[in-house]
Amino acid sequence: TERYAVFGNPISHSKSPKIHAMFAKETAQSITYEAILAPVDEFEASFKDFVVANGRGANVTVPFKEQAFALCDELSEQAKLAGAVNTLSVLANGKIRGDNTDGLGIVADLQRNLGSLQGLDVLLVGAGGAARGCILPLLNAGIAKLTIVNRTQVKAETLANLFAPFGNVDVLPIEHSGQSYDLIINSTSSSLTGDVPNISTNSITPQTVCYDMMYGKQPTAFNLWATAQGARQTIDGLGMLVGQAAESFNIWRKVKPNVEPVLTQLRAEL
Ligand code: ATR
Repeated sequence: TERYAVFGNPISHSKSPKIHAMFAKETAQSITYEAILAPVDEFEASFKDFVVANGRGANVTVPFKEQAFALCDELSEQAKLAGAVNTLSVLANGKIRGDNTDGLGIVADLQRNLGSLQGLDVLLVGAGGAARGCILPLLNAGIAKLTIVNRTQVKAETLANLFAPFGNVDVLPIEHSGQSYDLIINSTSSSLTGDVPNISTNSITPQTVCYDMMYGKQPTAFNLWATAQGARQTIDGLGMLVGQAAESFNIWRKVKPNVEPVLTQLRAEL
């Protein structure tokens, strides 16, 4: 039996232990997976203790993804560009490898819902860590163009400059997002407070799909607004959560679990 965990602060409401337990059962892998509350200023010590106690890998959530990035001996390309690590692995030689599966998680969930993303014109709302992590996976999935808008525009410009070498990336003032898009992704935390970023209503047509990285028992504030504007379909971030977990499980166990039954069960328990 090999030991895994998720580190965060707070951590008690994390769904990761349940998700990974379901994955382990489904794929007949003998693992344990626990939630560990690390003190805000002692993440590294807490993770090192876990490694000494035979920990083989860990997920990392708020507020430790940048600290996890800093402690790694090696990093995947995706983690380097995301500037954050959500998946730590202890290698056979004892070195710590960092990866970031959040972006692969949303792309997998988008493909599961929509099929190929090839050629899509995409609007990304927000320019924080969640936005940064999904840009390279979206470009690699073949989207035609990514336009980034953010309440604080200069942060969108910084991200666009960082990812310009990898594809067609543009920035607009948020209130000028007035052309239509195939797909709009809300990476901001605005739905937590019931707010909606002030993107133009013209960005949504009857062909537009809207994706909110947030999720809840009820539709999120952003998805309610998108539906009211006539969006073709709205999707919330529960599938992204399960998708990133599946990618982490695959990194550690070299087997890709089926996300559908896990997603169905989590949805029923919201
Ligand atoms: P995360 O890692 O979840 O992305 P973050 O790095 O703090 O968190 O970024 C939060 C993002 O949500 C930012 O793009 C923020 O906009 P600003 O850069 O202008 O702060 C955005 N955001 C948060 N609350 C918002 C709101 N009520 N309306 C619009 N944007 C909001």
